[in-house]
Amino acid sequence: MKVTAIAPSNIAFIKYWGKKDESLRLPENASISMNLSNLYTTTTVEFDDKYDSDMVEIDGESKKGEGDRVIRHLDKVRNLSGLKFKAKVISKNNFTKGTGSSSSASGFAALSLAASRAAGLTLTEKELSILARQGSGSACRSIPDGFVEWLDGDTSETSYAVSLFPHNYWNILDVVVVVGDEKKDISSTFGQVIAATSPFFPVRLRNINDKIMLIKQLMQKKYFNKFGELLENEALELHAIMLTSSPSLIYWLPGTITIMKYVKKIRNEGLPVYFTVNTGQDIHLIIEEKNRDVLLNKLKRLDVVQKTIVNKPAGGANLIQKHLF
Ligand code: DP6
Repeated sequence: MKVTAIAPSNIAFIKYWGKKDESLRLPENASISMNLSNLYTTTTVEFDDKYDSDMVEIDGESKKGEGDRVIRHLDKVRNLSGLKFKAKVISKNNFTKGTGSSSSASGFAALSLAASRAAGLTLTEKELSILARQGSGSACRSIPDGFVEWLDGDTSETSYAVSLFPHNYWNILDVVVVVGDEKKDISSTFGQVIAATSPFFPVRLRNINDKIMLIKQLMQKKYFNKFGELLENEALELHAIMLTSSPSLIYWLPGTITIMKYVKKIRNEGLPVYFTVNTGQDIHLIIEEKNRDVLLNKLKRLDVVQKTIVNKPAGGANLIQKHLF
């Protein structure tokens, strides 16, 4: 039976960086995110005895490295279900991978839902989130609806994501500003391994639970400006860890910094807009929906902006009827 799932990428307001268990992908700390309406992956999976080996195609190419990670995930699903058949997997992103838009989050969330159903399993949201986490940590946050917390947990069973607020709770947007098409040279997975080499990492971990509590309160009260200040400060803290790791990780391009400075400038002039950045050069601008057009008109005038992608808060992973093969 063919099953197709669609899952959103997500942007973390409080980041996941560093693992206390690498193979299980148990994070050092909890994280908070929002699902993104306009960055998503669609994946069709079919297990059948007509396949001699697993066939994995992502964005029209059968890629070896990523294909292997997908096959290891299929093995997990086969273990859970007892199914022995090989699978065909076709997956499509509606965006370019590897520039900071978290394709592994949407990718492993869609794969977890499609593959588990195709193998005859009906997992709960919690079980799906646990499965997705083992493919890519941030993927566990793309399973539940809207605004999400990943509870860090000490075991696989206690490390999963839950919805804090549904996607229609708050009219804020994530405008992704694309400033280059270079692929990142160091994966998030490797960056996380060396997080603890930064002398500032223990300081981060000491304060992170207070930060999580505070951002949840600000989201609850919809205090946009305080919320924005905190998420921007968090992104810079994440990059302070990356910059001071051994080896150091520099994910920004000149365009990333141009946009950071521009955001501060237009904020000083009165437009409430804040930025966050992941492992890539593209930068995410968080605004209230009512300020969308003003921001987009300003961005149009900047040479460094190649493209903008406007995202509303989105629901979590879902099944759809239209298969990719
Ligand atoms: C900076 O989830 O891609 O985007 O578990 O190794 O696949 P793996 O890492 P991944 O890391 C995401 C890191 C981040 C922060 C975040 O999304 O929380």
